[in-house]
Amino acid sequence: MFIKTYADLEAYEEIFKKSLSKQRIKVLVCGGTGCVAGGSIDIYNELTRLVNENGNLASVDLVKEDEGISVKKSGCHGFCEAGPLVRIEPYNYLYLRVKTEDCKDIFDETIVKGKPVERLMHHENGRLYKTQEDIPFYHKQTRLVLENCGHMDAENIQECIGRGGYKSLIQIFSSMQPKDVCKTIQDSGLRGRGGGGYPVGKKWSQVLSQANPVKYVVCNGDEGDPGAFMDRSIMEGDPHKIIEGMIIAGYAAGAHTGYIYVRAEYPLAVERLKTAIEQAEKYGLLGKNILSSGFDFDLHINKGAGAFVCGEGSALTASIEGERGMPRVKPPRTVEHGLFSCPTVLNNVETFANVPFIISKGVDEYRKYGTKNSPGTKAFALTGNVVNTGLIEVPMGTTLREVVFDIGGGIPDGKRFKAVQIGGPSGGCLTFDESHLDMSLSFDSLKKAGAMIGSGGLVVMNEDTCMVEVARFFMSFTQRESCGKCIPCREGTKRMLEILEKIISGRGTLEDLELLKEIADTVKHTALCGLGKTAANPVLSTLEYFYDEYRSHVVDKICPSKQCKKLMTIEIDSNLCRGCSKCARNCPVNAISGKIKETFTIDAKKCIKCGACIESCAFKAIKEV
Ligand SMILES: Cc1cc2nc3c(=O)[nH]c(=O)nc-3n(C[C@H](O)[C@H](O)[C@H](O)COP(=O)(O)O)c2cc1C
Ligand code: SF4
Ligand code: SF4
Repeated sequence: MFIKTYADLEAYEEIFKKSLSKQRIKVLVCGGTGCVAGGSIDIYNELTRLVNENGNLASVDLVKEDEGISVKKSGCHGFCEAGPLVRIEPYNYLYLRVKTEDCKDIFDETIVKGKPVERLMHHENGRLYKTQEDIPFYHKQTRLVLENCGHMDAENIQECIGRGGYKSLIQIFSSMQPKDVCKTIQDSGLRGRGGGGYPVGKKWSQVLSQANPVKYVVCNGDEGDPGAFMDRSIMEGDPHKIIEGMIIAGYAAGAHTGYIYVRAEYPLAVERLKTAIEQAEKYGLLGKNILSSGFDFDLHINKGAGAFVCGEGSALTASIEGERGMPRVKPPRTVEHGLFSCPTVLNNVETFANVPFIISKGVDEYRKYGTKNSPGTKAFALTGNVVNTGLIEVPMGTTLREVVFDIGGGIPDGKRFKAVQIGGPSGGCLTFDESHLDMSLSFDSLKKAGAMIGSGGLVVMNEDTCMVEVARFFMSFTQRESCGKCIPCREGTKRMLEILEKIISGRGTLEDLELLKEIADTVKHTALCGLGKTAANPVLSTLEYFYDEYRSHVVDKICPSKQCKKLMTIEIDSNLCRGCSKCARNCPVNAISGKIKETFTIDAKKCIKCGACIESCAFKAIKEV
């Protein structure tokens, strides 16, 4: 099928929409990486088999109207904590932690009789939530970018077109000049979702104004932050939205070639993008003279090898060119001297995925979401010590309290909320302090608090988390990932890591804290690229908000959260010990001795604090103090 004109695209949209509405029941099995790892492909196969053998399996070709039952592999539904997930429309039932053995019940009860299988549904505080939209995790979200993720077959371009996909191309080709598109994006206030929050329309205008006739559009799908998976989910769940956004960017900036840079550790995202590009080419939505507009645009995928620094713009373009991924000095900036030394629009996956909405619904509609200076929504990967982990999307300006408690369901096991690490290794830690909890999440508010939205990784931590260890963890990551080109980052991250390791092993001093701060400030102000400039953020924010915890480590030699093993002593409570000798038999370094039926003792000099004895004691007589 080749769609030649605007009228054809509109006609096909109607055909596919109608065909979708005719499908009596839609079974959407989550085909995102998390659920696939949990066995969702087997579930998909089993449900397909059951429907095929006992009912009327709808055709995947939407040109044929079909009143059958469709079984689809969708993108991520978001509620990853409870995967594998299966959504059934038109009832909007969401089944959680589904196993292959549950498929028969789902088929017999829901698909045949329309009845819910309650045992597979979400229960919270004694209440049963039948529909996905009622579940508190979803209730406070606003899904614009993720609207299709979990709601359509991620591998079928007809579904995408039937849901309005690629329609914004008609608008830009038929009634907008490139500069009008740049202005619309500028007026929308869209800011880059990859970390920096740079105004997108301004970037596109800067590329448009360059004299060089060869320009490029690059989509940054490197997503190297530990704990982040927003971009992966969009690439897997709605690849056409990214392609559509990139075509619009190409038209606006005068570029005819685009690259999507995806890390090779995202094989499913690469596969779905490949399929989507092939389909878009086949349908005439990529390539020469798209929809007879006279505009040509080709798209390529480039796989990255997984270095965090390759997410930095100039390192990324070097990597696409086949060079070692190392940042370079700026200026010149990417808008002037980007890929193959040509002017380049480089934007993040989620940034491009915002664009079709802005073009098709308009600036005013877009600005209804978010804040004045940070309009729209933001996707976050909510992880850590929170009841509901997963992929969420909320309007900018939503408070941390709403994210952690209303959507995330609070802290599990009755523990106290302690902090949130936001923005990955470049971000910072916010505290349980009311001023942070009620702070609205936006580019500017977070920057003021010493953190950053970053790409959207949001790790919740409970009272058992040691903040010095958190700073050490992120520093060990950035130190490993530093490309080594500039001295402040290469040496500074190493020295900071050494000091943090010294502190958690009980050898730190107050002077070390001063030195740590001094190095952190120096690296921040002198490193060449964003990796080094922001590497100290977790250290600086924890020093600012959790200084007492650092002090306890260096002055009192105590880890208040009881996480730093080297600051612990392990003791046997003589009141509880029965003298059974099990701990002594389990101790790998023979640090425990005693006589049967008498209290055993631990030789602190030999003890390596592995905790094996604590695990082994049936009488809970051994404790870390
Ligand atoms: C070390 C480092 C890693 C980065 N990683 C990413 C990434 O994985 N994805 C991304 O979109 N931006 C990343 N960025 C930001 C990019 O350099 C660039 O600013 C961004 O892709 C521009 O897109 P945006 O304006 O749409 O956010 C990284 C920056 C640095 C310094
Ligand atoms: S700041 Fe770090 S990652 Fe960036 S160029 Fe310097 S050494 Fe490389
Ligand atoms: S395992 Fe527990 S009860 Fe047995 S000797 Fe060790 S501390 Fe005492």
